[in-house]
Amino acid sequence: MAATINERYEAARVACARAGQEHLLRFWSELDDARRHDLLSDIERIDFAPLPGLIDGFVRRRPPHAELGPLAPAPHISLADVRADTDEIRAARAAGEALLAQGRVAALVVAGGQGTRLGYDGPKGCLPVSPVARKPLFQLFAEQILATQRRAGRPLRWYVMTSPGNDAATRAFFAERAHFGLAPDQVVFFQQGVMPAFAPDGRILLDQPHRVALSPDGHGGTLLALAASGALVDMAARGIEYISYFQVDNPLVLCLDPLFLGLHAQRGSDISCKFVAKADDHERVGNIVLAGGKVHVIEYSDLPESLATARNPDGSRRFDAGSVAIHVLSRRFVERLTADRSRFALPWHRADKKVAYVDLASGRRVEPASPNAVKLESFIFDALPLAEMPPVLLEVDRAEEFSPVKNATGVDSLATAQRDMIRRAARWLERAGIRVPRDAAGEPVVPIEISPLRALRPGDLSASDADLRGLRFDAPVLLA
Ligand code: UTP
Repeated sequence: MAATINERYEAARVACARAGQEHLLRFWSELDDARRHDLLSDIERIDFAPLPGLIDGFVRRRPPHAELGPLAPAPHISLADVRADTDEIRAARAAGEALLAQGRVAALVVAGGQGTRLGYDGPKGCLPVSPVARKPLFQLFAEQILATQRRAGRPLRWYVMTSPGNDAATRAFFAERAHFGLAPDQVVFFQQGVMPAFAPDGRILLDQPHRVALSPDGHGGTLLALAASGALVDMAARGIEYISYFQVDNPLVLCLDPLFLGLHAQRGSDISCKFVAKADDHERVGNIVLAGGKVHVIEYSDLPESLATARNPDGSRRFDAGSVAIHVLSRRFVERLTADRSRFALPWHRADKKVAYVDLASGRRVEPASPNAVKLESFIFDALPLAEMPPVLLEVDRAEEFSPVKNATGVDSLATAQRDMIRRAARWLERAGIRVPRDAAGEPVVPIEISPLRALRPGDLSASDADLRGLRFDAPVLLA
């Protein structure tokens, strides 16, 4: 039987009191029933057990810098290796295609983030992004999955991670758009956990008198969320062994790459990564490095200057692997890590942020002008050093696979992602032997878009295709 509101209040009161957070119920007597329900729901989402340790170790003081010891570049498969199209590469691609045909792979998009830098009103995956048809990010991924499953000859499952703040809006968007042509039951939504924002003294902030300031717990939360939601059990029941992980903000991502999947499976890896060659020594991407025999991703700010600028004898950059947050995870690895959910946690990362809060004395909401709060997040790449088997580190061409939408303007924005989608489409057409008119700056003269349903890779286009032969570039081009 469901607990009454009084029982829930009592449980929340005890949990808050034990954790020294009784102020979360400060405004209880002023709230109507609906607001009381909201407040209790927020408090019930908080995992209070680890809070004292987190507050001591991360909030009241800054965590000490993790010392990894000497760093070395990590062994990897380079773009040149892939382009050489060796027997190993061909065999891996065929193995990946077989895995897809056997239904042993699922796609997983992490879409629980708040997208604060972009400032779009709605889940980021709903952002219209394609340059001609204005398809939202979710649709581009759905169409890739549709196109891949047509080739595989069987439906492929897609797990979509949301967070409490965007779950309902995400599900509604998929429902309104008829799941973009996928069967509703092959799309599985699951929610990640949350972490409260803290004042520097360790008190959890209230966002409103009836709402706790909660944020999603980072993309590292994927692992526990997969376990807690039952998604892992669902995968096991369906014979899904490999999880093709990508972020919601990259319209160029290959959602289900046979080569990457095949390499990962053939080498028996636990977790693998794609990376790009860094654009410059100090590019703000995670650096993939080797330390103590394990692969780690470290923040650009944590790579010592002497290493950031180090060169190989041939003049190339020594630490050149920039993470693009595209992974394959073995289901068994995630199962192993999360077997005891109460004991598993990835490392927490502290970020000092501006968080609006309710002043407890006046009850007024304060919009701070400078960072006033500590947020804690975990990152998926911190699972890399927990792998027992060496990860596959696969270099990819940035122009083909990576152009994230992070910011409203400038670098990594909608404008740069659309530019990169157009450039890629133009290159694919040219590779197929079609002449694409370009302006003085070398850019295609009109926007060009190739639907994932039409082509997933350049080899899917040929100059003899009827729709390519008649192409004119006097208006935006859409290959549907
Ligand atoms: P980002 O680190 O870019 O964060 O997430 P964000 O929340 O999207 O954007 P900002 O930092 O607030 O501007 C990278 C990917 O990880 C997902 C995001 O949805 C995006 O796909 N993510 C991030 C989660 O799923 N959950 C999180 O808690 C954080």
